[in-house]
Amino acid sequence: MQKLEKLYEGKAKKMYATDDPDVLWVEYMNQATAGNGAKKAQIAGKGSLNNRITSVIFELLKARGIDSHFIKRLSDTEQLVRKMTMYPLEIIMRNTAAGSFAKRYGVKEGTPLKKPILEFCLKSDDLGDPFINDDGIVALGLASEEELAEISRQARAVNEALKDIFSKIDVQLVDFKIEEGKTSDGTILLADEITPDTCRLWDLKDHSGKIEHLDKDLFRRDLGNIIPAYEEIYSRLTQLAEAE
Ligand code: C5P
Repeated sequence: MQKLEKLYEGKAKKMYATDDPDVLWVEYMNQATAGNGAKKAQIAGKGSLNNRITSVIFELLKARGIDSHFIKRLSDTEQLVRKMTMYPLEIIMRNTAAGSFAKRYGVKEGTPLKKPILEFCLKSDDLGDPFINDDGIVALGLASEEELAEISRQARAVNEALKDIFSKIDVQLVDFKIEEGKTSDGTILLADEITPDTCRLWDLKDHSGKIEHLDKDLFRRDLGNIIPAYEEIYSRLTQLAEAE
């Protein structure tokens, strides 16, 4: 497989064309951003950890019957994925109140939710990723009724599988964001990444009642260095993958 021209550079990844029109070459970068790019830093080792973490998670999901764009990891910071036409949506699943949900509804962070919540935001840096509901998505033509039903079904299935994975490594899956796209043959698939940048992960090992964040909230909230936390997630996930 040959790496060709750069097609896109986002906040955390660069995408390149390859000699196969259905395959993209992804490079994970060390850049960390928060607040829609308002806060920015270069954190050595982050790109490699996220590339390795998302690769293991996509493999663990595959073993649970959930397919994704992931093809294979090439190096510490690179992987091959299937080329997709992306839905311009941030698809958020929540199991515990935290972050913008806790703030919006005046609920204490950590409050358990009686059922998982699926939320959508329109992916737009200019607009700050505003909340959008199902009717809005269909009315604006971002996805058809049928596509949205399939995206929602997959998001809930990913949540159940991820809850299983993280509970096995003593981590509470508080919430996460995924993205979905469509392949050239019309298959709707999980895409983008699943990493501590895109999930809230709280350590279930005893920290005497204090929340131990193993995710990007360490960076967003200036709580500490993300690298040891991401290394801990990677180490526990690889142990699980080896055991399975
Ligand atoms: O900030 P909020 O509570 O809405 O985030 C919900 C979940 O979605 C968190 O796990 C966060 O990491 C993720 N998220 C993301 N990218 C965004 C917004 C949220 O990965 N642009």
